[in-house]
Amino acid sequence: METAHQFGEETESPKHVAVIMDGNGRWARSRGLPRIAGHKAGAEAVRRTIKACRELGVSHLTLFAFSSENWKRPADEVDDLMGLLRFYIRKEVDELNRQGVSIRFIGADDGLPDDILKLIRDTERTTLDNRNLILTVALNYGSRDELARAARSIAKEVADGTMAPGDVDEAAIARRLDTVGMPDPDLIIRTSGEQRLSNFLLWQAAYSELVFSKVMWPDFDQEALKSAIDEYQRRERRYGAVTA
Ligand code: IPE
Ligand code: IPE
Ligand code: MG
Repeated sequence: METAHQFGEETESPKHVAVIMDGNGRWARSRGLPRIAGHKAGAEAVRRTIKACRELGVSHLTLFAFSSENWKRPADEVDDLMGLLRFYIRKEVDELNRQGVSIRFIGADDGLPDDILKLIRDTERTTLDNRNLILTVALNYGSRDELARAARSIAKEVADGTMAPGDVDEAAIARRLDTVGMPDPDLIIRTSGEQRLSNFLLWQAAYSELVFSKVMWPDFDQEALKSAIDEYQRRERRYGAVTA
């Protein structure tokens, strides 16, 4: 088994890797296949990436699966994506649970079918105590929506008199985000050559290192992950300070 050591000191490995899994449609089109074939192949890449993260010592993996803006896609593609998600969760949960993977979801409930909401709550409950890998799936997730929900919750507490305006600080906001309790991502990878965040983890990405890979998501594998981690390890994170 490969370990983090081959990349240098363990402390230099990213603890939390987040991925914008992009390029399924283009992968399919380049093969003359329907977009859903790209999404299916993308599910295989998810399986490979979880395994690779465990082997490379990554403790948190966050995957952008469906954005709050992806509802703009044709209804049949949205249905296909929801269907694939149902199928994937039902099929994989037991195995991931055996591997000690904790599965969590971030994003809004509004708009998701009831059976999927139940499936994700059951999955979270089943895998709650696992610690080998914290896998977070961003589903119906948009960072601006997440921040607006946090702002609403603060506004309500201030209106109710349970919170003073002066108590609204960074920690108070972070506590109301879907990612409460999670470390910020050290490394954000976007596949398919696009170079944007598309409303993913805007608050949490304040000091994340961004790596853009040309690989289409269905082709993503351990080698592509290693290459992104290698690039991460060549960066110097300064957080606004100066280095000695
Ligand atoms: C990523 O692949 C999957 C989702 C956004 C759900 P795309 O479906 O965006 O693929 P491209 O960008 O059209 O190639
Ligand atoms: C971002 O990809 C969302 C996910 C990967 C789930 P998109 O394909 O939706 O992003 P844009 O539209 O190209 O910015
Ligand atoms: Mg895309």
